[in-house]
Amino acid sequence: MPRPPRSSLPQPLFDEPVFAQGRPTPDPTRFKVPHPSDAALYRRLQALLYEDVVGFPRSRAAPEELYRLATALGPHGPEIDADLRAHGRIVFHMVGDIGASTEGKYPGEIRVSDRITQDCRLAPPDDRPQFLYLLGDLVYDFGEARYYYDQFYEPYRNYPAPIFAIPGNHDSFIVPGTPPSEAPLVTFQRNFCAPEPVVTPEAGSLHRTAMTQPGVYFALDAPFVRIVGLFSNALEDPGVISSQGGEWKAIPDVQLEFLSAQLTRLRDERFEGAVLLTTHHPPFAYAPPAGGVGGGGTHASSPAMLAQIDRICTETGVYPHAFLAGHAHNYQRFTRSIDFEHGRISVPFVVCGGGGHDVDPLVQARGGHAGVEPADGTVVSYLDPEPQVEARGLVLEHHDDRTYGYLRATADPNSLVLAFHPVGTGAMPAEPFDRVVVDLASHTVRRVAGTPRRAPTGETDRPARPERRSSRAARGARRPGSGPR
Ligand SMILES: [Fe+2]
Repeated sequence: MPRPPRSSLPQPLFDEPVFAQGRPTPDPTRFKVPHPSDAALYRRLQALLYEDVVGFPRSRAAPEELYRLATALGPHGPEIDADLRAHGRIVFHMVGDIGASTEGKYPGEIRVSDRITQDCRLAPPDDRPQFLYLLGDLVYDFGEARYYYDQFYEPYRNYPAPIFAIPGNHDSFIVPGTPPSEAPLVTFQRNFCAPEPVVTPEAGSLHRTAMTQPGVYFALDAPFVRIVGLFSNALEDPGVISSQGGEWKAIPDVQLEFLSAQLTRLRDERFEGAVLLTTHHPPFAYAPPAGGVGGGGTHASSPAMLAQIDRICTETGVYPHAFLAGHAHNYQRFTRSIDFEHGRISVPFVVCGGGGHDVDPLVQARGGHAGVEPADGTVVSYLDPEPQVEARGLVLEHHDDRTYGYLRATADPNSLVLAFHPVGTGAMPAEPFDRVVVDLASHTVRRVAGTPRRAPTGETDRPARPERRSSRAARGARRPGSGPR
């Protein structure tokens, strides 16, 4: 039956403003622009993004309990787990901010999801990624159930392995008037924290079953790696993992107990693999120094959140080998040097938020002045003004704010490798744009020869790199049985 001509539909279709309502544009890739009548609503919503946090339920798992990769894999999990341990390494993907909120963004998301999926199929068996870990902001604008298919299930329909996720602000912020049953975290939990691996309505006719994480925060245990994931809540900025002493009354403090229990467990069992800590909001996001030219990117650092994490790390005597986050739609890799326990350690803090939603510049024009892009290697310790550990310097090591991309991580008994693979429109690059190796025993970042350096586009300030101890010296200083630091 022929479709009725568009002009025969009643106009307007709705009798009140609808988000994403707009007017067609001559540019078919942009399709819509906000309708002027929505301006006041958008302004009010924009304000709420910095005011409204959300509560969330306690995890089904006890604070010290692990969620094992073998569990997610189902009946063959123990067998695959044993194979990985026998092989001596594990490879996995990480990326944040995948959701395409408009038709114009969809090609970006598809390019990234296709490349990540292609990596699984092209890699030789002993180098094949075993899972994808999403760093939040899966479904825009605010985790609507009706967009899970388009923005998550369909793009990753061919990813041949489990997909885990921590929620981002776009997966949790509640638009006023949303029925409780349709709150974004309800949908997120239905699809990622299901008690059983069922097919949800959001998956449509696809066969991917819901992930069975015990909660929106959880500790994923896999061969050679443990990933402690925290939910950093619904604000645009900053990230918040607790009530912060009652300041955010809606947020329970259960994650503090969870983090402490997990780090204590790592210490007590003398875990020797790589320890990663993930939050959607990055502890560090680049911004020019006070008085500098231009402004920072679209998202800022979260110092109060990091302070809480640092204090728990100090109390337990365990510091993660790397921090991973998204939220900022670009790639940033910092190295933070710390005097911790009995020696100096260095820790990568990585932002990998170019999963397809957008690519944002690291610096923006401000006050009529164009932003000045920092040179890689710039000391940015001003981003860490009141550290709750013995911080000894913060360096912006690498960044990419021009292409989408994802992380390919490799862990073995000796090292953790984080490699950033940019995704453009061309063929798969043979080498990653950036690659960092963390020596697990010494807990130090090892520079990788041959890593291409990005040419600075503005003024440079290239002080000396932070002091690093040799692996041998640091290993000798490590307290036996202290586990990861
Ligand atoms: Fe975000």
